[in-house]
Amino acid sequence: MKFKSYAKINLSLDVLRKREDGYHDLCMVMHSVNLYDDIDINFSDDGKISLSTNLSFLPCNNKNHAYMAADLFFKETGIENPGIKINIFKRIPVSAGLAGGSSNAAAVLRGLNEIFDTKLSKEQLAVIGKKIGADVPYCIYGGTMLAEGIGEILTPLPDLPECPVVLVKPDINISTPSVFKRIDVKSIKLHPDTKGIISSLKNNDLNGVCKRLYNVLEAPAEEVLAESGMSGVTGHIKSIMLDCGAIGTLMSGSGPTVYGIFSDENNAKCASEKLKKTYPSTLAIYQ
Ligand code: C5P
Repeated sequence: MKFKSYAKINLSLDVLRKREDGYHDLCMVMHSVNLYDDIDINFSDDGKISLSTNLSFLPCNNKNHAYMAADLFFKETGIENPGIKINIFKRIPVSAGLAGGSSNAAAVLRGLNEIFDTKLSKEQLAVIGKKIGADVPYCIYGGTMLAEGIGEILTPLPDLPECPVVLVKPDINISTPSVFKRIDVKSIKLHPDTKGIISSLKNNDLNGVCKRLYNVLEAPAEEVLAESGMSGVTGHIKSIMLDCGAIGTLMSGSGPTVYGIFSDENNAKCASEKLKKTYPSTLAIYQ
């Protein structure tokens, strides 16, 4: 059976405090975009979980979130694994701030719930998903959501009005913990206007959302990029997007992907063609 595993972007990301367990309490507005990996789940009769993907560098063992999801599903439900083969066709850039791995885990949980007719609710799947990663609960639901706590306290929001989005993943992988490690919550001077974003969503006001896009992880992620010799890359991508008419730009999650929101498809096409020359991993998404 085939399942779709959607990428997300952050319309905002705020870090509120560091918790005792090392995680951070966040307040973020997440939005699913029309970019997805294909997850194919079939039976085998060897009693094992086997995983394959179209990207040779990805682990296919219990380090992969999709594998972890399948393993946890059988442990939590008590169902004996008859043997399953999971194949993932990746389109979502990896280690990019787009929740690709978390989304794959969520799709495997939803998929196995359907295949084995376990009838777990989304809430129950989200509780299992949280054990895999902080973004997995959101990925169980998708759509436009306010995510609080470590990311698992979710409130549905009105969908972002349909708009073309251009995503650029610079050719470098950033580790999420390395970005969070640089955050000193007390020294964050600017916070996103989350309330303003929510009321703009309620008013179907794309411009209102776009002028408030803000991510407090962008500055520490840029420090990490600079240390890897990619100083100024975020600003460069944003300036090309804005020159082509983007109405808002932001880094998603802990980066390094930068996205631009457009109101016009031709502007998005122009930006994506220009950006592809320097950044091969540029994707234009028409919602
Ligand atoms: O849960 P996940 O594996 O996606 O998180 C990766 C890392 O990101 C964590 O180990 C932690 O360093 C950081 N993180 C955090 N606070 C969150 C989510 C993630 O500090 N709410």
